[in-house]
Order: sequence, then C-alpha cells, then structure tokens
Amino acid sequence: MSEKMLFERFRDKVVLVTGAGSGIGRGIALRFAAEGAQTLVVDINKGSAESVAKEIKSTGGRVTSLRADATNISHARHTITSALKKFSKIDVLVNNVGYCPVAPLMVTREEDWYSLMDVNAKTTFLWSTIVARGMIKRRSGCIVNIASDCGKVGDPYSGVYVAAKHAVIGLTKNLAHELAPYGIRVNSVCPGWIETPLLEKVNRETAALTHRSKRAIEREIVAKIPLGRIGTPEDVAGLVTFLASDDAGYMTGQAINITGGALML
Ligand SMILES: NC(=O)c1ccc[n+]([C@@H]2O[C@H](COP(=O)([O-])OP(=O)(O)OC[C@H]3O[C@@H](n4cnc5c(N)ncnc54)[C@H](O)[C@@H]3O)[C@@H](O)[C@H]2O)c1
Repeated sequence: MSEKMLFERFRDKVVLVTGAGSGIGRGIALRFAAEGAQTLVVDINKGSAESVAKEIKSTGGRVTSLRADATNISHARHTITSALKKFSKIDVLVNNVGYCPVAPLMVTREEDWYSLMDVNAKTTFLWSTIVARGMIKRRSGCIVNIASDCGKVGDPYSGVYVAAKHAVIGLTKNLAHELAPYGIRVNSVCPGWIETPLLEKVNRETAALTHRSKRAIEREIVAKIPLGRIGTPEDVAGLVTFLASDDAGYMTGQAINITGGALML
C-alpha cells in the first residue's frame, strides 16, 4: 500500500480511543491520526491525554483530547455527547482501557473483583452500547475491543483480569450478532506481551511476588515468543486500523491474536 493510500484510509472518519494517554491506546491514536482520522483521545489522566494530543498536532494530525473515567456512565455519556455535538458522528470506537494488578486469586478481595471487572469489561459494555446508538441510526460503524491473550487462556496471578478479558471477547461476539443487521462490525484483538508502562509494572510486581529479578522475568517472556521479541504498541495499532478499515469488511465477532506467535489458538 502506498503512503498516500495509507494516509487517506481514515480521512473522513471520526475515531474515539479510550485510555489513549499511554501505551497501546496512545499508539492506536497516533496511527489513526497519521492516517487522516479526526481522533478523540480519551483518558482518565488529563495531562496524558493532552500530551498525546499535542504529539498528534505537532505532526499535522486532527485531534481532540477529553478527560473521562471510562468506568463512569455519566462521564461516558457526557464525553460521547460532546464528541457528537462537535463532529456529528463517531465512525470507529476503540475500547482500550484496561488494568492488571499482579495478585493470586486467593488474596483477591471482593472490591478488587468489582473494580477490575469495571475497568476491563464494563467499559466495553458502556461505551459500545452508547456509541452504537448513533452508529445504528447511520447504519454504519466499527468497534474494536482491546482484549488480551488472557481472554483465551489462564495466566497465574491475574485471575480477575483473565475473567474480565474472557468477558470482553464474549461481549464482542454478542455485540457483533446484535449490531450486524445495522452494518456495524465488532471485533477484538488479543495482544500478548506489549512494551508499555502497564507491562513494566506487571513485570516488576511479578518479580517481587516470585522472588526473581525483573530481568529474569523479561528473559523468560522473550523465550516464550516465537518471533523472539516483545511487541510494540505500533504492532497492535496496525491490526486495529486493519480491523477498522474496509479491508476487514467481511470480519465481525473475531478475537485476533497479536502475540508474536506466543499464542496460536
Ligand atoms: N501491555 C500489554 O502487554 C497488554 C497485553 C494484552 C492486553 N493489553 C491491554 O491493552 C490495553 C492498554 O494497556 P496498556 O498496556 O497500553 O496500558 P497503560 O497502562 O500503558 O495505558 C492505559 C491507559 O488507560 C488509562 N486509563 C486507566 N483507567 C482508565 C479509566 N477508568 N478511564 C479512562 N482511562 C483510563 C490510563 O490512564 C492509561 O493512559 C488494556 O486493555 C490492556 O489490558 C495490554
């Protein structure tokens, strides 16, 4: 694909990315903006959202930053309403917000269950159902949910996260069924280990919990990846933009791995 074609792929599109102030969400927002989209960078951290917006503006991209707690229904409604007032539509929603503490299930408290389900799964339900109302009226749109390889297999010390990411894949399938009659496609992506502040934190906490060095943990991770390296937010952004593009026009309800081959199911 030529540079010009790539740039024009999302020229008339409005794209909203939650949790876009850091890591994978930031990478996704930068990529959509580079391909011409009007990009809405949503994050609970106002400073991070503004800094990503500044980065996008400095390269000539079109962007608006919005502060919102994605777990809060009033914030979701308010953010989506202001976006619709300003741009009249949202073509692509990327539900990227997520968080993973390192804790064995046996020491996980009930309140941790609720907060992790909220941030990792409820956000997908809330933002998808609110944004889809406008998409249904226009009979077009696309939703991409950032799940995880943990949405398909178990992983020690992240039990609630694993349950929540399985829920994201389940929600993706149901939304795909319910929204297909309106021409709306819904897919999820399942990243493996991706270099972000979240992975840094998870590796640090795993090292402390298992009495190993963070270096040793990182070496073990790379040894499990057939392509021999940890992924980047740019790797994930390439898959997300593909799923949001017309090239994926016959794909819905899928959960696509992006793991360097670490997960092959
Ligand atoms: N990094 C990985 O290895 C990896 C692997 C698989 C899946 N994922 C998933 O990718 C997504 C992004 O992860 P990341 O590694 O980029 O994390 P990250 O911590 O680097 O970025 C997450 C962003 O979400 C924001 N955020 C957190 N809670 C929020 C809320 N309630 N409302 C709005 N914004 C909120 C944070 O401020 C931050 O900017 C998550 O869903 C995560 O589960 C990450």
